Amino acid sequence: MNTEYKIAQDTYWVGKIDNREVPFHRLILAKGTTYNSYLLKTGKPTVIDTVDMEFGREYAERLSQFIDPMDIEYIVINHTEPDHSGGLAALASRALNATIVCTAIAVPELQEMYKLHSRNFLIMNDGDTLDIGGKTLLFKETPYLHTAETMITYCVEDKILFPCDIFSTHVAVKKLFSDEAGFDITEDFKGYYSAIIHPHRRYVRTLIEAVQDLDIEMIAPSHGFLIRENIRKYIDLYDVLSRETTEGKKAAIVYTTLKNNTKKMANILQDCLKENHIETEVWDADKNSAAEILSSIASADAVFVGSSTRYADMIGNLEPILQEMKNMNLEGKLAAAFGSYGWSGEAIEVIQDYLNATNMTVQSTSEVIKSTGMIHVEFPIRVRFSPKDADKVQKIKNAAEYVSDLLLSAN
Ligand code: FEO
Repeated sequence: MNTEYKIAQDTYWVGKIDNREVPFHRLILAKGTTYNSYLLKTGKPTVIDTVDMEFGREYAERLSQFIDPMDIEYIVINHTEPDHSGGLAALASRALNATIVCTAIAVPELQEMYKLHSRNFLIMNDGDTLDIGGKTLLFKETPYLHTAETMITYCVEDKILFPCDIFSTHVAVKKLFSDEAGFDITEDFKGYYSAIIHPHRRYVRTLIEAVQDLDIEMIAPSHGFLIRENIRKYIDLYDVLSRETTEGKKAAIVYTTLKNNTKKMANILQDCLKENHIETEVWDADKNSAAEILSSIASADAVFVGSSTRYADMIGNLEPILQEMKNMNLEGKLAAAFGSYGWSGEAIEVIQDYLNATNMTVQSTSEVIKSTGMIHVEFPIRVRFSPKDADKVQKIKNAAEYVSDLLLSAN
């Protein structure tokens, strides 16, 4: 079934089935996957998403047998990751009249990835619509589902949602629709959610709001099964799974501060953790006893340790506490280093080294990127001088929200 397949009036699946054991995000997709691309043969023919870059040329050649690429008016790219945008270079080189439709963030990404600097782009903002000649497309921004630039597309007349990664399954389907699968796809659906979407579950709330007023008769995602029965069940699964939390989590924040800037960081962390229902204790190591602080650390699920930097090192009474933490069994706890600095912030790195010498799970930018692909969350949390600017406050909040999500995640 690697050819066109009609799913609605003038709307065709034109994707690619990949039944290999596909390596993906450090997983092996044992059941393979599909890259679902759609062609809407309207007055202004439109393609929605393409296929993995490995199959780009094959895809464009097959599509050329079904429509003259020079007739394609729009190519919608909901998400730039190459398993969906990978056919764009081959398609765009044939569809020379096509305008590429995507979010503002996606434009430079697609230009750089596929050398498309001279092509026409049409930027879609949340709620924008596009007349494609007999059908209307509505666009909603859904950042971080799966990466920052992502949007979803809804065909108003056909009531079809094209959500790209969202509501997908990683199964190399022989039948397109879930109701033709011959088995219950729920476990595959939940497995995909858990592996790909759940790390971004904070953003699923945005998605649920975005789709709640849409009258959806079919979900046509870009991996696996299309869904036209029990649609509400699958949306509700995302709603429920993203809301599930583990109750009663605690955090301890320990710091020393030179000019109160690291103290301000501690307070921002505390406020954000509390907003996320994490019970939080804050300790100035120069004003509280080590025994009291170590007791708080022992009962916490996450530990933040921060210091200002002076003469390339930590200040105050922090070091004996970090020394003692190396001797404690802190397994299962999350840890993060933070601090304000003026020049290089060596103290923050020294704290990171101490935390790495414990058996806690220490947060690092590297691990965040590898596990979620998110690049707006940084560990250790480093702020130069006062954390008073909005972008510095946001940086601290991003880290606190990330830790909160890890603590509260029930999956
Ligand atoms: Fe299916 Fe985020 O790629």
